[in-house]
Amino acid sequence: MIDYIDIQDKYEINVYSKSKVVFIKGKGARLWDNNGKEYIDLAAGISVANIGHCNQKVVDAISQQATTLITCSNNFYNDTKSIFLKKLIGIAPSNLTTAFLTNSGSEAIEGAIKFSRFVTKKKKFIAATESFHGRTFGALSATYKSDYKTDFAPLVDGFSFAPFNDYEAIAELIDDDTAGIILEPVQGEGGINIGDKKFFQQVRKLCDNKNILLIIDEIQTGFGRTGKLFAIEHFDIQADIMTLAKSIAGGFPMGAILCSDKILIDKGKHGSTFGGNPLACAAGNAALDFIIEKRLWEEAAQKGKYFADKISEHKLSKVKEIRQIGLMIGIELFDKPQPYIDQLLSEGMVTLSAGKNVLRLLPPLVISYEEIDIALASLIKILK
Ligand SMILES: Cc1ncc(COP(=O)(O)O)c(C=O)c1O
Repeated sequence: MIDYIDIQDKYEINVYSKSKVVFIKGKGARLWDNNGKEYIDLAAGISVANIGHCNQKVVDAISQQATTLITCSNNFYNDTKSIFLKKLIGIAPSNLTTAFLTNSGSEAIEGAIKFSRFVTKKKKFIAATESFHGRTFGALSATYKSDYKTDFAPLVDGFSFAPFNDYEAIAELIDDDTAGIILEPVQGEGGINIGDKKFFQQVRKLCDNKNILLIIDEIQTGFGRTGKLFAIEHFDIQADIMTLAKSIAGGFPMGAILCSDKILIDKGKHGSTFGGNPLACAAGNAALDFIIEKRLWEEAAQKGKYFADKISEHKLSKVKEIRQIGLMIGIELFDKPQPYIDQLLSEGMVTLSAGKNVLRLLPPLVISYEEIDIALASLIKILK
C-alpha cells in the first residue's frame, strides 16, 4: 500500500501542522479517509466547502467547462467569466459595482491594498488586533500575529493595529496619510470574535468624514456563513472594498475584490494570469446559483442557533464561553483545544482551532440536522 503520509512528509515543505489522516473523498458534509473511515466535516476546509464537498452542480459545471475552455487570457473576453461577473455583482451589496478576480484570499487583500493606495494617494492602513488577512507580504502586514511576521521583516510599511471593536482606539490612529481601515466582520482565525454593530457604524462614519476607504474582509464570513449572505449586512453599512475567496467557487480556488465606484484603477496597474479563469468562473457560477437557490444563509442562521443552543444546554466543564453567529461557532475552552481536536478526529469529527483556546466549528452550510446531532453527541462527550 502506498504510504501517502510518508511521501508527503518527505516532499512537502514542512509549513503545515497536519493530523495523520489521508482524505480521499468527500460528499456534502462527509469525508472519507483512505482506510474507508467516514467523518463529519465541521471545518469545511476552513469555510471553503460551504455548499458541501463535490456539490453536484459544481462538479457538472467544472466537467463541462473542462471540455470547452480551461484557460483564457485576461486580455480577451470570455463567456463564462462575463456571466460570473454579472452574477457576483448582482448578489453583492448594491454599492459594489465592479470586481477584480483572483485565485486566493491573500491575493484579494493584496489587490485591495494596492487599489486603496492608488485611489487615495495615501499610504497607511489600520487593522485590528487578532486580525488575519493572509500570508503574502501585504496581507501579512495587515495580519496581527507577530509569530507569523517577525521572521519575514521588513513587511509593507504603514500598518498599525487597534483593538477589535474599539472605536476610540481606531480614531486615535488616524492621520492625514491613512488610506484605509481593514476589518473582518467576524474574526475567524482570531477566535470567532464577533463585530459590534455600533463599532462598525462608527468606523464607517469616520471613514466618510476623513476620506478613508473601508475594506471589509469577507473571505471567511462571506456567502452565507454568518446567517446573512454577507456578514456586513448585520451592521447595516457599506464597504468601499470587499474581499472574498474561500467558498466563492464551491471549493475551486478563487477570490474577488469587489469595489464601489470610488475605486477607479488605470489600465496596466494590476493584473493576474489565472485570476477569473474559465474553470474557476464555471465553478463560481454553479456555487452562486446553489447558494441563492437554497437561500443557504437562512439555513446557516437556523442550524447555527440549533447547534449552539444544544451545546449550551449541557454543563460542559471544559467550556468557558460559546460565541456563535450563523454556522460560525467558537467554543472557548479553559485550555488548549488541540487534544480535544485530536479526540474528536478519532471519533470521526473534523474540527479546527482558532485564537488562543478556541475550538472552531465551520461546517458546510448544507450539513443536516441529523449530522449536527451526531456531532453534538461527540462534542458533549469530549467537552464534559
Ligand atoms: C479573513 C481571511 N482573510 C484572508 C485569508 C487568506 O486567504 P487565503 O488563504 O486564500 O490566501 C483568510 C484565510 O484563512 C481569512 O480567513
